[in-house]
This record gives sequence, structure tokens and C-alpha cells, in this order.
Amino acid sequence: MHVLHVASEVFPYSRSGGLGDVLGALPAVQARLEGESLGAEVTVLSPWYAGLAGTPREVWRGELPGSGGTLGPVRAGELREGGVRFLFLDLPGFARPGLYHDDDVERFCAFGRAALPLLSALGVRPDVLHGHDWQAGLAVAHAHLAGWRTAYTVHNLQYQGRWTLAEARGWTGLPDWAFSPEGLEFHGDLNLMKAGLVFADHVTTVSPTYAREITTPQYGEGLDGLLVRLTLEGRLSGILNGLDQERWDPRRDPDIRPYADATGKAANGGALRSEFGLDAAPLLGVVSRLADQKGMDLLIRALPELVQDWNVVVLGGGDPLLTAALTGWAHHPRVAFVAGLNEALAHRIYAGADIFAMPSRFEPCGLSQMIALRYGTLPVVRETGGLVDTVPPDVGFRFAAAEPEALLDACRLARRTLDDPAEWRGRVTRGMALDFSWDNPARHYLELYARLAGLSAETPA
Ligand code: GLC
Repeated sequence: MHVLHVASEVFPYSRSGGLGDVLGALPAVQARLEGESLGAEVTVLSPWYAGLAGTPREVWRGELPGSGGTLGPVRAGELREGGVRFLFLDLPGFARPGLYHDDDVERFCAFGRAALPLLSALGVRPDVLHGHDWQAGLAVAHAHLAGWRTAYTVHNLQYQGRWTLAEARGWTGLPDWAFSPEGLEFHGDLNLMKAGLVFADHVTTVSPTYAREITTPQYGEGLDGLLVRLTLEGRLSGILNGLDQERWDPRRDPDIRPYADATGKAANGGALRSEFGLDAAPLLGVVSRLADQKGMDLLIRALPELVQDWNVVVLGGGDPLLTAALTGWAHHPRVAFVAGLNEALAHRIYAGADIFAMPSRFEPCGLSQMIALRYGTLPVVRETGGLVDTVPPDVGFRFAAAEPEALLDACRLARRTLDDPAEWRGRVTRGMALDFSWDNPARHYLELYARLAGLSAETPA
């Protein structure tokens, strides 16, 4: 079995969020399981961004004969790591700093069109092409039309890769019939997420709860009708993400004072307090993209009350309005805010905080709560998506309404629970013992590929 992942991010070479983390972990685990009957040879195809953290060896250079016109000069590089072959595709639009830009729909159309011609130039023919999120939607469509088996994973339904159809159809290299409302057309736009949903043999999303939620108007982002149909056809399911438990291990983390239990954890709280000049009150931590999805406005509206009980440490970047609001709060003696991405500080917050807040409006899976659990930091989460599937009620603190008051209620309960050290320690111990190893999801995907490739000959007894 040979599987080829297609995605716009792969840690540690390129990353803006959880998608990159998943592609940084899952392929290597699948390759490691190759010895087992279900195992796979694994290749990952991703853009060769100008600022890629790595130096691929050039393996191909030339003009590609894209369906519907030439694609211009293309270069491909390769890196091998952890048993996985990483291919990086360099196209004219990718030679500039940063991952994402305003012309991404056009750029990822070029990426999606170039994928198959490049793979055939390299002699790569996987049994299954597994695309991730809208940036890989067009590659899935072309693979399907070429008769390949395809899987497609939705990491976040909110970002769909839309552009006026009149302008964008020429970018895709697809035949005219593909632009019907049953195909890629969506309210007069090209929709690349739909390309993945419509053409993949099977669609997964990153938690069972999110797989159910997206079939409703509340979470379906306008695609719930299509997703209901996929569910009824047995073509949509949820596979919960794992966590890279080596990268995130409080016993062996060079960025913190390593620990194995609640007692050892305390020194990290002290260190975080002195780093930000905070007082003795307990610590609420946040590491998050600052976006509407993450419910950061709820947190900001809850701050006037939160700071009566908690020191609040927030690390994150994104929305300028949310950034400005948090910058304003940073003058408060009990609030610390650091804008942007900072891997080492993220580790110190996971280790030092008592509770970790994720008031997400929706959360396909979420990785931070799993990290927090592993670090003995009790999650305070809204009951949605992967947060429901990963945070047991006897460990974390859950709330239902997307309202500041509901978040505050959960934090008040957390604060009262802190006054019962035995109960708190029990929660911490149970949380740290949860197993989020990638082995389980990696096996589920491998079973799916085997089914798609028609390899699974076993019939249940
Ligand atoms: C997206 C989702 C997040 C998920 C991640 C990886 O970032 O917002 O919930 O954990 O993808 O699948």
C-alpha cells in the first residue's frame, strides 16, 4: 500500500496551525506501522514555500503539461525523514515569504493541477491520494478523474477556497461539466472544498462529533446539505486526531522544568508567574489563533470578572481587533499577552498554567486541549467538536453556551475545585494518563485506505 498525502502545511517545514501538526505526525506513524499487515509506504506532497524550514534536494525541474494549458516552470525537491518521503512543489506563485496570501485560490489551483503531472514525471503512483483541506481539493478532483482512489479530510470547514467562477474556472483544468451545482459551483463561485467533498471516494473529518455537527445548518457553513448526503451514503466519518506525544512530553521537554506529576508541575507555575510579574493567584493559560472560531471575544468579554480569580496569560496572533483588545488588557497586573507564535513560550504556558481555556465556537478537533491534558493543565472548553471527544467531564470543565457567562461559570467551578486539592490532583492525574497516541487514528486511516483500494479481502466471521 502506498499513500500520498497532499496538504498545504507540514511541520516542521511549514506550519500555521493544527493542519501542519497533523501532517507532521500522522505520515511518520503510518510509515512506522508499515511492518504490520495494514502498513503503508508514505509520501507527502506540499508546496515548496520560499521560507520553507528545510533544504530539499532538487529532484525535478521543467515544464509540466497541465490539463488545459502549460503550467510554467516547475521545480520539485525531496526530503526523507522518519521513513516518509516529502516532496515539495515549487511553482511561480510560491516564491515569496509566508504561507498564505490573498491570491491563494489561484495559487492552490496551480498546485492542484500540477500535482498529478509532477507525480507521473517522477514515476510516483500511490494506491490512495489523501488530500487535506481546501488547498488539496483540486488535486483530489484530478486524481479522481484520472481513476485514482481518493480520501479527503476536512480539518476546518470554514475555509473553503472560494473565488468568482467566471474568473477561476480557467485555473482548474477541469472539464465544463464539473462546474455544475452538483460539482464545484457554490453560489456563483468556484469552491475548492467542494471539489474534495464531491470527488473523494471517502471524506473524513477530525473528530466524530464534528462529523455530526457539520451536517447541521449551525456548523455546516452552507455545505450541510451535501454533507448529509455523504453521511447517508456512508462516505463521511470522523477520525479523531492524535497528538505527537514525543514532541509534547512534560517529562522530557527542554523548554520547561520537566515533571511527571502534579507536584513537579508546580515549579513551572512559579516560573511563569515571575516571567510575567504575576501575583499568587492561579493561572489561566491560552495558546490560540486569535480568530472568531476560537471564541477569543468571549474570553475578552469575560476578563473583567476572570481577573478577580485568575492570572491570565495569552499567547496568540491573528485578528487585529482581538490583538488590539488584548494589548489593551496587557497593562492589567493580572494579564499577560504575547502576540504571535512562540513555540518555547507555548510550552511554558502549557506547563505553568492551572487551567487552559478554549471557548471555541466550533472546533473540528483541536490539539491544544490534548497538549494541556498531557501537561496536567485542566482544560476549560466549550462543548463542541473534538473538545467533546477529548476532554472527559471528570477531568476538564465543560460549558455549552457560546456566552461569556457560561465560560465564567466553568471557570468559577474550576476555581472552587482548586480549593479541594485531592479532587484537583485526581483530575490532573486522570488527564495526564489519557492516551492520545497517533497509532489509533493512523490505523483507522490505513483501514480506510485498504477498503478504498479494495485490498481488504477479510470478511467478518
Ligand atoms: C484545524 C482545526 C482544528 C484541528 C486542526 C487539525 O486547525 O481548526 O480544530 O485540530 O485543523 O486537524
